[in-house]
Amino acid sequence: SRRVRTRDLIAAKQRGERWPMLTSYDQYTAAIFDQAGIPVLLVGDSAANNVFGYETTVPVTVDDLLPLVRAVVRATSGALVVADLPFGSYEEGPTQALRTAVRFMKEGGAHAVKLEGGTRVAAQIAAITGAGIPVMAHIGFTPQSEHVIGGYRVQGRGEDADRLLADARAVAEAGAFAVVLEMVPGEVAKRVTHELEIPTVGIGAGPDTDAQVLVWQDMAGLRTGKAPRFVKRYADLAGELTRATRAFADEVRGGEFPAGEHTFD
Ligand code: KIV
Ligand code: NA
Repeated sequence: SRRVRTRDLIAAKQRGERWPMLTSYDQYTAAIFDQAGIPVLLVGDSAANNVFGYETTVPVTVDDLLPLVRAVVRATSGALVVADLPFGSYEEGPTQALRTAVRFMKEGGAHAVKLEGGTRVAAQIAAITGAGIPVMAHIGFTPQSEHVIGGYRVQGRGEDADRLLADARAVAEAGAFAVVLEMVPGEVAKRVTHELEIPTVGIGAGPDTDAQVLVWQDMAGLRTGKAPRFVKRYADLAGELTRATRAFADEVRGGEFPAGEHTFD
């Protein structure tokens, strides 16, 4: 089957069909999600937290992310692979943003890019889409700006709803094919979704967006500890991997592994 295209996602919205999206940063998860029918995979700058162990997404670089993008693209045949532009790689203006986006397309093999911000990055979105590269926007809570926002806080409440709506209109007008709404009140996300022709992708934005995205380690319970309210864990991979690891360690210590069947004559 052919790869998903951005126009398929617009068509899905017109038919009222919702779609799931996940992050992926490596070949095994990418292949599993692709085979399971996830139409869009995001190589998120959340690799900063979930792969590289940083506290925030601020330190991760284009050179850190490019090999992960290549792995996800190589491992998939159906999913549209979106590469996240990391902090510092597009803020200077349209020229820098386009240069970075081109690297993710040429060197990473990505099918689209994503960046954070509304009105303030409309010129960047226009430059990138103008060069033939699809752009997914990301508004509401934008993790790369957490030091200005003051932590993980819901955005677009009360009077801020109008500003969020203006940001949504600005990114759509600039040519984005979809927009992530992160940590915004459900009613506001519903309003944005209704107003825009392009699909909205919610994370902590309630049930009325066109699509939903989660970080895969949150979705599958590989990350332990307190999760944000918007996370649902569909598996307990941390528990399963801990059990497997303890069993292996016990069998090595007890002399049960390797057995005859694992041994060459
Ligand atoms: O980097 C990321 O994981 C993201 C999504 C959660 C939208 O930007
Ligand atoms: Na991101």
